[in-house]
Amino acid sequence: MRLVIDNIPGDKSIAQRAVLLAAIASGTSHIRNYPDSDDCRAALECVKELGVRVKMKGDSVTIKGRGLYGLRKPTKPLNVGESGTLARLLSGLLAAQPFSSTLTGRGSLLNRPMKRVIDPLRLMGANISSPTGSLPIHFQSSKRLSPIRYPMPLASAQVKSALLLAGLYANGVTTIKEPTPTRDHTERLLKLMGATITLPQRHKEHKGLIKLYPPERLKPFNITLPGDISSAAYFIVAGILLPIYKETMKPGHHFLASWIPYKELVIRNVGLNPHRIGILDVLKRMGADCKLRIADCGLRNNWEPVGDIIVKPSRLKAITLGGRIIPSIIDEIPLIAVLATQAKGITIIKDAGELRVKESDRIKAIADGLRRLGANIRELKDGLVIKGPTPLHGAVVDSYNDHRIAMSLIVAGLVTKGRVVVKNRECINKSFPEFSTRIKQIERIIS
Ligand code: S3P
Repeated sequence: MRLVIDNIPGDKSIAQRAVLLAAIASGTSHIRNYPDSDDCRAALECVKELGVRVKMKGDSVTIKGRGLYGLRKPTKPLNVGESGTLARLLSGLLAAQPFSSTLTGRGSLLNRPMKRVIDPLRLMGANISSPTGSLPIHFQSSKRLSPIRYPMPLASAQVKSALLLAGLYANGVTTIKEPTPTRDHTERLLKLMGATITLPQRHKEHKGLIKLYPPERLKPFNITLPGDISSAAYFIVAGILLPIYKETMKPGHHFLASWIPYKELVIRNVGLNPHRIGILDVLKRMGADCKLRIADCGLRNNWEPVGDIIVKPSRLKAITLGGRIIPSIIDEIPLIAVLATQAKGITIIKDAGELRVKESDRIKAIADGLRRLGANIRELKDGLVIKGPTPLHGAVVDSYNDHRIAMSLIVAGLVTKGRVVVKNRECINKSFPEFSTRIKQIERIIS
């Protein structure tokens, strides 16, 4: 028997980029499978405030683009909520507009670093004030921006995308060099919209050079968002961690009279962008039984690859992670830490210092949560060391108001002896409001 998980919410990274780009397209774009999450709702509210007409019907969004030069001066500060992606990407767009605007947000985002986008945007000639280097930020109306050649000091898809959005308005070719490849959803969407942009090929050596030629106009698009692999990851890991065999009692027998082979789990229609599937490489290296079935249409439309992920409960071994793979697993590392508690040996995760400036300090938050469940886990400055396998027990743990920490600890709770209570779990609404209901599908199978 197999369990199929369908309707993973649409990819949040692509959704937010699609909304911003649709807003400046010359015509009407359609986005299907749009996620009903706080971050994605904030994206729609922001473009509405910039004068863009947005219609929502079920999970489909229609956006009437105003063209590259048609956005309207907002009448109030644009509020991105707690979305770091939106804050960084919108900064690129607002820095290039011929009107002034203010960008603000809430919660932990007010303390997250924005200098990483402000500095290069200033090099392009943008007039930005931000006394603290975080939100709120004020953008003065801009004359035409200058193009830059920018070697990025850190690997960040958000910063890269902000510069590409600003580069649409520059007076020449914008060249960005990434230290390590990061998700390329912005580049793919820009290509789809007819922009001339280089997209480094996966199988050639990635030189990290991206060149964007400013377009005269951007074509509208009609897309269906693939399921978000960062949301699917919780189910993938749950499917792997569940017991291989379930002990059963038969009348007349004391114990272990038979073994029931556990089912496989299929997670359907997930985005398989090469820069997002690091989690699958990690799982394979840890010895997990994990397969991919790439859907034809995903390759045919040459936009974003899509497919199914099939996993079986597996015994795991520890691995060391660091370097180039980190950007492609950055949002999954708390979940990999959960896996590592059940893997044989010492798992080391390094080069992941960026985790300290996400919605929470994710290194501290996951180490604290898993330690409370009995894990043997230690913090590094830029990562974690986890010794396994360790039987976990129930406890009260804190999400640190971070959706990825909350969901990772709930998944850990599937394999603990005793109940895990995650405090402050409303933060899950940031990316996956239905998560708690959906994970119960899995819980029912093991109980
Ligand atoms: C994102 C990029 C990543 C990731 C974030 C979403 C994006 O951040 O952690 O959740 O949509 O571009 P950085 O690029 O800053 O590492």
